[in-house]
Amino acid sequence: MPGSEPSIGRIVFTAEEIRARLAELAAQIDEDYRGRDFVLLGVLKGAMMVMADLARMLTHDRVEIDWITVSSYGDATTSSGIIRMLTEPDLDLAGRDVLLVDDITDSGLTLSWLIRNLAARGAATVEVFSLLRKPDMAKVEVPLRYLGFDIPPDFIAGYGMDYAQRYRNLPYIAVLDF
Ligand code: PRP
Repeated sequence: MPGSEPSIGRIVFTAEEIRARLAELAAQIDEDYRGRDFVLLGVLKGAMMVMADLARMLTHDRVEIDWITVSSYGDATTSSGIIRMLTEPDLDLAGRDVLLVDDITDSGLTLSWLIRNLAARGAATVEVFSLLRKPDMAKVEVPLRYLGFDIPPDFIAGYGMDYAQRYRNLPYIAVLDF
């Protein structure tokens, strides 16, 4: 059970599988934003890996990168539903085309809160990229323009995702066995 010491279980996506899917999505993003400046806005900390890899696959040369830090889980394994903004973006996002990049959509509460927050900042457009989504856990529907993979509701970690701040450094995504 969460609270006990987990071990790394079954690998859900290897580094190669993640890279292949990101390449497909990066090509779509290049196409969709052709000729337009836009801001890739990564949601820390979980999006650290996917931002770094996705950004390097874009051939688009008019993209700006910024970050926002929110936390809804703390060290818990289920969302509290209370989103805390820990750091604000540096850029003024008013009038900008923003592509939010997150690692996982679970309840959907974080991203739906962020979409509202960015609208309140006056962003011209807000689209959402999520590497993973757990459809069975959705409490609110998030309009994802770019989705890597749908997955079952197992507790997973790696490739930016943590349990009690650990495992973010793994280059693959694995189930944690408690
Ligand atoms: C995780 C993840 C998403 C969010 C998804 O962040 O990175 O931002 O939870 O969950 P939801 O759809 O239920 O809202 P977390 O709050 O754990 O912080 P972290 O990115 O620093 O790990």
